[in-house]
Amino acid sequence: MADKEKTYTLTNDQTGESFQLPLVEGTMGPPCIDIRTLYAKAGVFTLDPSFTATGSCKSKITYIDGEEGILMHRGYDIKDLSENSNYLEVCYLLLNGELPDKKQMEQFEYNITHHTMVHEQVHAFFRGFRRDAHPMSIMCGTVGALSSFYHDSLDIWDARQREISAHRLIAKIPTLAAMTMKYAMGQPFVYPRNDLSYAANFLHMCFSVPAEEYKVSPVMEEAMDNILILHADHEQNASTSTVRIAGSSQANPFACIASGITSLWGPAHGGANQAVLEMLEEIGSKDRIPEFIERAKDKDDPFRLMGFGHRVYKNYDPRAAVLKKNCDEVLEELGVDNEPLLEIARELERIALEDPYFVERKLFPNVDFYSGIILKAMGFPSSMFTVLFAVARTVGWISQWKEMVEESPALKIGRPRQLYTGHTERKYVPIDKR
Ligand code: CMC
Repeated sequence: MADKEKTYTLTNDQTGESFQLPLVEGTMGPPCIDIRTLYAKAGVFTLDPSFTATGSCKSKITYIDGEEGILMHRGYDIKDLSENSNYLEVCYLLLNGELPDKKQMEQFEYNITHHTMVHEQVHAFFRGFRRDAHPMSIMCGTVGALSSFYHDSLDIWDARQREISAHRLIAKIPTLAAMTMKYAMGQPFVYPRNDLSYAANFLHMCFSVPAEEYKVSPVMEEAMDNILILHADHEQNASTSTVRIAGSSQANPFACIASGITSLWGPAHGGANQAVLEMLEEIGSKDRIPEFIERAKDKDDPFRLMGFGHRVYKNYDPRAAVLKKNCDEVLEELGVDNEPLLEIARELERIALEDPYFVERKLFPNVDFYSGIILKAMGFPSSMFTVLFAVARTVGWISQWKEMVEESPALKIGRPRQLYTGHTERKYVPIDKR
């Protein structure tokens, strides 16, 4: 006999009518009330503007337990992956669901490295941008524009075309990102090198110049690889949800990833790593920290401590825990552990972790707090920090997009409803009578 369906009963306190809704359970995490029949049964919608209590999809890719500070990709803990895997292997895992065997890994590396160049015509796009354009604005434009080059891989219902698009995006995004940095500096674009690892190739494209040889430091390579792993996916955050909503209309994958980049840009999301550095610069010296802590607590002041707090993590961000350790090691190896901004960051972290305002609200340092510091030490301008986040997150976006297309037999457009609070019907008044 089939198990009795678990349900939730919703009662209208005015009429006394009751409606049963199915309770669906995943493999981990809280169950969800499936409200899809609610309007038909009860004539009401639910209201959850920032999606604080709404699951938008079923997914097998990433699991987060915000209370415990746990992040897992396909069942593997982020710490395990960051210590033992590498970014491209994590990409394979996110995209395909399992860790690759040796042959699969070699093939995947070959596929990615043989798509790293962008069409020469893309170079022409760059000249249309001002040299002082924010690199994220260039990323929004050029990633979306990739769809104008790859007409052979835009059919979202063709599995092979989905795969090629995913490979192209993962392969080309570092090339475009490095080009935005070079463009701002007025230096020549550096072509990708397929003999280097994903992280080393990216560093090479960002920091080498044709005039002299550039050797990628193994410390930098490892730190970059780790930063990429730690930002690879994070379930249904704002940018990923944006990608899914864009994809639900059957838009092509390049357009969908461009929409993810736009959403990531904001300071409440991926733009926070740049905002952290700007905040540290604004603070300027350790003795001014209390002033900024007080501003962060003041409800009449919009200032927030950038790099602190998270919608889901109400315990230490596990990515921040890994990066904090990395941060200390990398800064020591690069010989910049006495950087004044770093001193401010450490002091800020110490005070915030003790201050009752932050302790009570469980506002711990998040991944962006440490990534900005490491990236600065590596020599990246702060305007590039969010671009780096976009490079790393592309695999998460495309994996979530692929899952949505593949796991939804009838892909339904994402179309939320609303609680209308405007005027009720009124008659048009001609302009001379208003
Ligand atoms: N500084 C000061 N107060 C804060 C902060 C902060 N950074 N973050 C949250 N609060 C307070 C907030 O004022 C509220 O207080 P009260 O309960 O007294 O009204 C309480 O903490 C809960 O905040 P919330 O706004 O309801 O939390 P949220 O889940 O909507 O926001 C957040 C999450 C990440 C947008 C927010 O913590 C924030 O703005 N942090 C700074 C920006 C940042 O570092 N973002 C990167 C997030 S991690 C990377 C990523 O996901 O992209």
